[in-house]
Amino acid sequence: MLQIEGLTRRFGAKIAVDSVSLHVPRGQMVGVIGRSGAGKSTLLRMINRLTDPSAGRILFEGRDVTALRGAALREWRSDCAMVFQQFNLVGRLDVLTNVLVGRLHQVPAWRSLVRLWPETDKAIALSALEQFDMGSLAAQRAESLSGGQQQRVAIARALVQEPKLILADEPVASLDPRNSLLVMEALAEINRRYGITVLVNLHSLELARSYCERLVGLAAGRLVFDGPPEALTDAVARELYGLEAAEAFGPATAGPGAAHPAIQDHPPVAARPDDRPAAVH
Ligand SMILES: Nc1ncnc2c1ncn2[C@@H]1O[C@H](COP(=O)(O)OP(=O)(O)O)[C@@H](O)[C@H]1O
Ligand SMILES: [Mg+2]
Repeated sequence: MLQIEGLTRRFGAKIAVDSVSLHVPRGQMVGVIGRSGAGKSTLLRMINRLTDPSAGRILFEGRDVTALRGAALREWRSDCAMVFQQFNLVGRLDVLTNVLVGRLHQVPAWRSLVRLWPETDKAIALSALEQFDMGSLAAQRAESLSGGQQQRVAIARALVQEPKLILADEPVASLDPRNSLLVMEALAEINRRYGITVLVNLHSLELARSYCERLVGLAAGRLVFDGPPEALTDAVARELYGLEAAEAFGPATAGPGAAHPAIQDHPPVAARPDDRPAAVH
């Protein structure tokens, strides 16, 4: 169980996340929603400790994650895999090797340097790819894949890390509607099949409603909604999204397979230089 208590992050005078408290039981799939600048990324990055909190605590299974340093911090980061908008694969390396990077914490550094991956790790990585129908792409360079395929490779990499938690920061924001659904399916399948807790930041309310059993709404860093999708009234949703409402809601008829213009209209945004998976050095 993940317990967040009074979590706050300031950047100068700006409060990006403001006293957020949240309890997430093991195995939940939680959508974090809200307009741009609401604090979604900062919240996820604090859980992974890519960003340090200004105040508050994060406990996982009773352990204070906010206090971890050194080896214990590295171990925590391998327990909570990050998935980013821009995939963060190594483009010139083949797909299988990119997935194997998720096993790095299990493999002595020298073996990974000379690419002597244990056969069992290769089998694990290949089976993760096969699970997402990408076994046949294992030998291709990652950069030759479509965005949707690359994101599913990134999810396979997160899976073979054997995390307790997957933190996905707008994983579909650079993808077309069809690939957005495939990527959300991949996250949902990991959640269902392995009981891994998933926290996913989503701009599209339609996707959040379709795939997440619980929605957490942030506005100006504060938690303003926490409940199942059915409990999110149109009025609250409008308050959450403000002027971005029309874009975030998508067509009223949307459901799995329907178009999601909110995503289609998003041009790919360059990843910040610090948006790197913690496991890759
Ligand atoms: N590294 C940073 N330095 C200064 N301000 C930041 C930094 N990261 C985020 N912020 C600010 O914190 C607020 C929340 O940002 P963010 O967590 O990225 O929101 P979201 O992911 O919901 O779009 C925004 O006002 C943003 O400008
Ligand atoms: Mg963000």
